[in-house]
Amino acid sequence: MLKSSRNMAVIPCSILLLFSVVAVQVGGLFTDGLGFIYLDCGYGRDAQAYYVDQSSGITYVSDAPYIDSGEIHNISSVDALVKLPQRFLTVRSFPSGARNCYTFKSMTPRLKYLIRASFLYGNYDSKNSSSVQFDLHLDVNFWKTMTVTSRKVSYYTETIMEATTDLISVCLVNTGRGTPFISSLQLRPLNRTIYPVVNASLSLILSSRFDMGLTGEPVRFPSDPHDRIWNPYADTSLTKTSTNLPVENPVDDHFEVPLVVMNTAVVPVNSNKMELSLLTEPGDLDEYYAVLHFSELKPLLQNESRQFFVYLGGTLLNDAKPFTPDYLSSSAVYSTNPTSAPTHYISLVATSDSTLPPILNAAEVFSAMQNTIVPSDSRNVDAMVAIKGTYAVKRNWMGDPCMPKIAYVALNCAMQSSTKRPTMTEVVMQLKESLALQSNLDETQLEDRNTLKLLKEHGEMHQISTFEFECASISDKDGPSAR
Ligand SMILES: *[C@@H]1O[C@H](CO)[C@@H](O)[C@H](O)[C@H]1NC(C)=O
Ligand SMILES: *[C@@H]1O[C@H](CO)[C@@H](O)[C@H](O)[C@H]1NC(C)=O
Ligand SMILES: *[C@@H]1O[C@H](CO)[C@@H](O)[C@H](O)[C@H]1NC(C)=O
Ligand SMILES: *[C@@H]1O[C@H](CO)[C@@H](O)[C@H](O)[C@H]1NC(C)=O
Ligand SMILES: *[C@@H]1O[C@H](CO)[C@@H](O)[C@H](O)[C@H]1NC(C)=O
Repeated sequence: MLKSSRNMAVIPCSILLLFSVVAVQVGGLFTDGLGFIYLDCGYGRDAQAYYVDQSSGITYVSDAPYIDSGEIHNISSVDALVKLPQRFLTVRSFPSGARNCYTFKSMTPRLKYLIRASFLYGNYDSKNSSSVQFDLHLDVNFWKTMTVTSRKVSYYTETIMEATTDLISVCLVNTGRGTPFISSLQLRPLNRTIYPVVNASLSLILSSRFDMGLTGEPVRFPSDPHDRIWNPYADTSLTKTSTNLPVENPVDDHFEVPLVVMNTAVVPVNSNKMELSLLTEPGDLDEYYAVLHFSELKPLLQNESRQFFVYLGGTLLNDAKPFTPDYLSSSAVYSTNPTSAPTHYISLVATSDSTLPPILNAAEVFSAMQNTIVPSDSRNVDAMVAIKGTYAVKRNWMGDPCMPKIAYVALNCAMQSSTKRPTMTEVVMQLKESLALQSNLDETQLEDRNTLKLLKEHGEMHQISTFEFECASISDKDGPSAR
């Protein structure tokens, strides 16, 4: 906590409180009441722009309120000739700044969220790039390296994570292999009880998700209220089976798999085992988690039984016990610890006294995002956004302030006149005092104008954290009157 005698952070933060109330209300306008936020990146300069996607009925909004950097582009007219959903017709790209972040405010701490980012290049920059590569970070954690090698294909990545604060930031990081860009960013609140392995220190990154018995188009919203995308699985050595009867979800359901996914399944032909490699992007996973969804779809006769072992990469799941799916009721076998193996096989092997082969309705495979720096840095981010909200920081001070090697900060007071508002000179003075105290910088090294510029190396950024923490603690709950 702040130990300076001058208590310099109090005035700026009282403004911040006023400001965050406004932000909450504005944020509410852009969601659909169920808490989804679907951004069409680059759609309209007007922050209020939105439209309803015809095929899903989902409302997409302009990303402008969630980010204040980047450029808006249309994909090339040639690429736009193919019938594409609106969200792929524009992108936001980030030619400047090592790290550019979308910030979602007013999230619910401890709630789980599904976040999906989509990328379609479409030669938006007329450079005919054959490969664009950049990193995605979720808050301060590495999420995934995106490699876009086709100009016509939409790439996406999805994570299921637990919010630790009321802010979630998704950052595009330039790694020197092309200009980062994004077509769409989607965020959906999930139930707290869903995907039990996900917690504050572990997020799941989707590798693949199959509705094993599906023929035809992928299943997603509205069939799946969580808008997960369930793809068909092509394997001719498996027989598809289905029922028209409803498959129920159990009371303490951790996955809420939709009925249309559960009422189809596959079984092996003339074999007592099923072996599957479910990875869509083989190679870079060394640890993964699987969730396998089962339901018996036909009433078994007295002399029939279906019982099998579930192996993931050679490890027996389900407490090493054989598994029997319930009739018309979904249940799941899933890993609670990561499995590592050179190949990513899921095997279902019937027990010797089972008269029927194994069955599989749906399967999901994830890798893990280790959230190593959970609490302390999210407070930093909190404070950064707070300061940004108050003073309209224009440059790249977003997401985790400590990530870029150099932070360039320009503060301009964004508040309209108010008796409580400090003058910019006062703010600059307070910041300077704080910095001088915390970083041993000579005050004359800091510019004395209406703008305060700091050019500091990574390590030194940490030294102003006392000021940041003071802001964070006030914005958390206490309010200025408590001080
Ligand atoms: C993108 O296309 C729309 C119409 O399709 C047009 O109104 C807009 O000016 C274009 N934007 C840019 C940056 O070219
Ligand atoms: C991009 O490709 C198009 C046709 O494929 C070509 O006409 C154009 O000159 C190329 N532009 C660049 C910058 O390579
Ligand atoms: C879980 O989510 C579904 C769909 O979003 C909702 O209908 C249901 O009430 C939720 N259950 C709980 C326990 O929150
Ligand atoms: C998250 O779950 C893992 C095991 O599944 C556990 O080791 C870890 O302590 C949990 N973290 C938190 C913050 O609960
Ligand atoms: C089970 O019993 C039925 C008749 O009730 C018979 O047709 C079938 O062959 C039997 N199946 C097995 C595996 O014994």
